[in-house]
Amino acid sequence: MKSVLLAPVLFLASIIEAHPGPHAQPDPVHLARRGALAKRCSDSVGLMKRNRHAMRRRDLSPSDGTTTYTITADAPNYDFLKNDTCILTPETSTGPYVYPRSQILRQDLVEDQLGVPFVMDIGLMDIHTCEPLENALVDVWHCNATGSYSSFTGLDPDISFPDQYLESTGEEIDAENGMGDVSFLATDNTTWLRGMWPTDKNGVTSFTSIFPGFYTNRAIHVHVQVHTNWSITSNGTIGAGSTVNTAQLFFDEDVAAEVMTVPPYASHTQIARKPVAEDGVYFEESLTGAMAIMDTEPLDGQDYKNGVLGYITLGVDTTAIHDGTTEDPNPPIPTSGDSA
Ligand SMILES: *[C@@H]1O[C@H](CO)[C@@H](O)[C@H](O)[C@H]1NC(C)=O
Ligand SMILES: *[C@@H]1O[C@H](CO)[C@@H](O)[C@H](O)[C@H]1NC(C)=O
Ligand SMILES: *[C@@H]1O[C@H](CO)[C@@H](O)[C@H](O)[C@H]1NC(C)=O
Ligand SMILES: *[C@@H]1O[C@H](CO)[C@@H](O)[C@H](O)[C@H]1NC(C)=O
Ligand SMILES: *[C@@H]1O[C@H](CO)[C@@H](O)[C@H](O)[C@H]1NC(C)=O
Repeated sequence: MKSVLLAPVLFLASIIEAHPGPHAQPDPVHLARRGALAKRCSDSVGLMKRNRHAMRRRDLSPSDGTTTYTITADAPNYDFLKNDTCILTPETSTGPYVYPRSQILRQDLVEDQLGVPFVMDIGLMDIHTCEPLENALVDVWHCNATGSYSSFTGLDPDISFPDQYLESTGEEIDAENGMGDVSFLATDNTTWLRGMWPTDKNGVTSFTSIFPGFYTNRAIHVHVQVHTNWSITSNGTIGAGSTVNTAQLFFDEDVAAEVMTVPPYASHTQIARKPVAEDGVYFEESLTGAMAIMDTEPLDGQDYKNGVLGYITLGVDTTAIHDGTTEDPNPPIPTSGDSA
């Protein structure tokens, strides 16, 4: 009960600290249903995860057999799924959702950005059927090694979002109604570290990027959104009948700390980095029982400073997705305004 009461306050706190994106709190009834659905699939998720680790191992092993790389995947038996899977919830959508034009259909997000190589392996599990979710569009974006987002490069990563907003608009963020759509704060059309790609027949997709850096008030994170029933319109934007809510994915503090010692991350000394345990969005996601920390391994089997491989399984409750006019599973929280 306590966490439910806390939620609205934290929700507001984090929405004004975070970059644009929806952050709705699921209600307890919905959570309980989702939890029950998810638990049924725990063995399937475990198996999916084990297969993905094994596949990566084959891909990464040099053919000369010199590596002593070991896979640390857990056994495929989970008595409790929720802390190993980040369950997403559908968001209300009343028709075609026009995506930011900087989200491009591609797997390599790097462009000219410098940093520690980062491969993301994202698996989707349909928690209704316990089958991998095929051909769903996974949309990711994150900041660069020193905390800037493409398309928003004119904003200072060391200045808090409310202050940025005030500086740009001359107005305070409306605490009653939230910030609404803030895409007008975009400063350019750069596209680095953004992309989207559909899941394959194993329900898996992957991206090549650089490990994200950090900006003020937030732990290191990656934004991810999942769209089902998607299509590409003639002007290159994505038309989607159904959108599964946005999540943010995090990293173990030890991994984050190690990567931050490497240039150019290490040059970001103007502000302190917030550890994941102190991040408001991470806290909210944890309230839902979701395990939003990526499983990681060094890309070369040895040293995170040479590259990071991150795995996550996202559970999607497809029964709660209809045709873009989904009934809102997350009733709006008064005074917080989740229209962003
Ligand atoms: C997940 O939950 C199980 C059972 O409650 C627990 O033993 C395990 O330590 C948890 N794992 C993590 C990563 O929190
Ligand atoms: C991150 O992006 C900002 C804005 O474009 C840029 O000024 C900065 O140099 C970039 N960081 C790195 C490490 O390239
Ligand atoms: C992005 O490009 C479009 C089309 O060229 C242009 O209309 C728009 O003003 C640009 N946006 C920004 C923020 O520069
Ligand atoms: C692209 O087309 C969609 C619908 O087909 C429209 O809603 C959207 O505004 C268009 N985007 C641009 C950038 O022209
Ligand atoms: C998928 O989208 C199409 C058109 O965009 C729509 O007609 C159809 O009903 C949608 N199907 C589902 C299952 O949402």
